[in-house]
This record gives sequence, structure tokens and C-alpha cells, in this order.
Amino acid sequence: MRILLFTGKGGVGKTTVAAATAVRAAQAGHRTMVTSTDPAHSLADSFGVSLGDDVTEIGENLWAEQIDAQARLESNWRDIQEHVISLLNWVGVDAVEAEELSVIPGLDEIFSLTDMRRHADSGRYDVLIVDCAPTAETLRLLSLPEVMNWYIERIFPIQRGVVRTIRPVLTRVTSMPIPDDRIFAAVERLHRNLEVVRQMLTDGERSSVRLVVNPEKMVIAEARRTYTYLSLFGYRVDAVVANRIIPEEVSDPYFVKWKDIHAEHLQTIRESFQPVPILRARLFDQELVGTKLLERMGTEIYADRDVTRVLHRDVPIRVRKRGPWYVLSMRLPFVERGDIDVHRKGDELYVRVGTYKRNIVLPHALQRLEVKQARFAEEGLEVRFAERSSGQARAERA
Ligand SMILES: Nc1ncnc2c1ncn2[C@@H]1O[C@H](COP(=O)(O)OP(=O)(O)O)[C@@H](O)[C@H]1O
Ligand SMILES: [Mg+2]
Repeated sequence: MRILLFTGKGGVGKTTVAAATAVRAAQAGHRTMVTSTDPAHSLADSFGVSLGDDVTEIGENLWAEQIDAQARLESNWRDIQEHVISLLNWVGVDAVEAEELSVIPGLDEIFSLTDMRRHADSGRYDVLIVDCAPTAETLRLLSLPEVMNWYIERIFPIQRGVVRTIRPVLTRVTSMPIPDDRIFAAVERLHRNLEVVRQMLTDGERSSVRLVVNPEKMVIAEARRTYTYLSLFGYRVDAVVANRIIPEEVSDPYFVKWKDIHAEHLQTIRESFQPVPILRARLFDQELVGTKLLERMGTEIYADRDVTRVLHRDVPIRVRKRGPWYVLSMRLPFVERGDIDVHRKGDELYVRVGTYKRNIVLPHALQRLEVKQARFAEEGLEVRFAERSSGQARAERA
């Protein structure tokens, strides 16, 4: 089963583009399931149908659902949560606050994601289209089972086996609530689920992320950051959809200026995401509700492409620590080994090789470092970062 995830800043048209993609996939004969993990559900509005927590057939080859994240959270987390609450009570946190604190932010969305596994296992669908919450925060969360481990180890300080043997002693010496087997089982189940979903989503042949942007400064900036982090955590972006572009034929003087602004932003989009294909959808003259309009949008975005294909096999940006260096490698396609110009400005890295330009947002770890060297290696361009030497810093201060 192919999985297509759509993300982008709030309001850019994620839901609409995801729905349009689903309509096209279904028409091409793929059994298509469309779902949403964004707590702000709007799939139903987009299709102009009513949707609930159950899978509903909304057309030929097309099914949809709007996950009730709260219910998923309840059924997956309740056992664990009760224990966390009793722990928090034990350290003196008030009941109501303990209840609030016992839910990790983003956890409800995590559970919606684990639902994917159910659809994959069912064998009923060829493609699963997911309308995600903005900026893929959750994917980041999901990519870090270690963080989850860290959290869990603090709640369950003692391993299961140990607890079983020494529980009688523990209960005599402390009044601290001690997790029982049921809770350990729930935690383990959760772990396994998250790991399976993470593997599904970071397998580039199965899953692709499509970033939806508008020709606007803030929107592009956020999408670039999302792109960097998705790459870093192993998710593959196979297309960027630039939505709401004012069409060529518009000649109204009021909008002509906007056309120029859009052209400029489109250039930035190319420089930020190339070689990932940039697909486009114009600003329609009405809201896009219902299958007919979604189909029009889908055709405009994908032309005659099969929407379920992997549209681009990216070798994402990678960062590794090598001795004193942090080495960032990025593949630059179509690039002759020309003269390289690489420099960092704030949290961004500007790269120019010959006439090719690209700029990316640096991950946090690199933002405070200096570019020391840039050269071509097997994996593409390698940029080496290191701490600024103290001698240099001193010289600058003087
Ligand atoms: N290209 C477009 N032209 C006209 N209206 C659009 C376009 N893309 C999205 N819309 C409209 O914009 C609104 C917000 O889109 P939506 O897909 O819900 O955004 P998001 O899911 O990113 O918050 C919807 O009413 C939708 O119909
Ligand atoms: Mg939406």
C-alpha cells in the first residue's frame, strides 16, 4: 500500500490538495482511502459529505474517514495515563492538573498515525492518503522513539521483571504507585506500534511526503524548515505543491502586481526544493468543494501523472558527526563541478555551484557552527562545519 502524506502551514490548502489527489487516484482505478490526522478536520467539508470515525465509501474506489483522535487516545493511553496520574498525585500535583499533564502534546495525533497500520494490514486499499497537521510536528515526534523511551523510563523507573519480583518489598517501603503488568503491556504495545508505523513512513518506496505551499514568504519559510527536518529524520519528500498561483490570463491591474510577487516567490520555491518537482495549482475563482472541482484541481496539479507513483527519489540532506566536524551532505543534481560558493547566514545555508543556487534551513545543531570547507564527494556536496576556533573568536573581539 502506498502512503501519501500532505503537510504544510495552516490554510495553504493541504486538505484540498489531499482530497484532489485522492479523487485522481480513485479515478485511475486505485482503491483509495483518505484520512486525516489533523485535529482540525475538514475532509468532509472538502468533499461536501458527512464523515465520522467509521470508514465511509464516498465514491467509486474511494473511502474516507475522520479519525476521532480523542477516542483513539482514550483506548490506547488510558491504562498508562491512570498510572501517570497516580504518580503525579503522589508527588503532590492536584487531580485536575495531573489529568492535563498526563497527556503528551501531540499524542492524540500519534495515535491517529498508528491507525495507518490497521489500514495497511487490512489489504483493502492500494493507497492511503493522509491529510496531516501543519508542519509535520508529529512526524518528528514519531521519528524519535528514543524520546518516547526517555519519557517512559522516567514514568516507569523500574523494569517490568524487576518490579514483579520486588513489588512486595517496594510496597512495604514506599507508597509510590508501582506500575502493574497491565500498564507495562500497554506501554510495550504502544512502542511496537510506533516502531512499525515509523518504519512504514520512512520507507521511501512506500511513503512519500508532499509539501503544500502558497507563494508567500512565511509559508515558504516554514515549508523549508519542515523539509530540512523531514529529511533529517528519514522521511522522503517527493513533491512540493505550489497552490493558489494567480493564473497567467489574469490581466486586472490590481492582480498584475500580485503576479510579479508570485513569480518571485516561485523562484524562491525552486531554489529551496530543487530537484524535488514543484507541481502547481492556480488560485481558482471559487472555493474547491465537491468531487467535480477537486478533480479539476487534481488534473491541474498532476496532469497525466499517476498520482500514486514515487514522483521523485530524493537523497535527502544528511548530517553526520565525523571527529570534530559536522558534515552535511546534499546531492546536487544537474550540477557540473563548477566553482563552489557556500556560506551560512543566520540559520540558513546558501549554496551556489556555477549557475545552480540552493538555500536550505540548517538544523539546530549546525546553526551556531561555522562553515569550514565545502567540496564534492561521493554523496554530492559535502559541507563541513565546526566550532569557531577560540583564537579566531578572540581576534574578532579585539
Ligand atoms: N487553489 C485554490 N483556489 C481556490 N480556493 C482554494 C484553493 N486551495 C484551497 N482553497 C480553499 O481554501 C480553503 C482552505 O483550504 P484547506 O485545504 O482547508 O487548507 P488547509 O487544509 O491547509 O488548512 C478552503 O475553503 C479551500 O476550498
Ligand atoms: Mg486542513
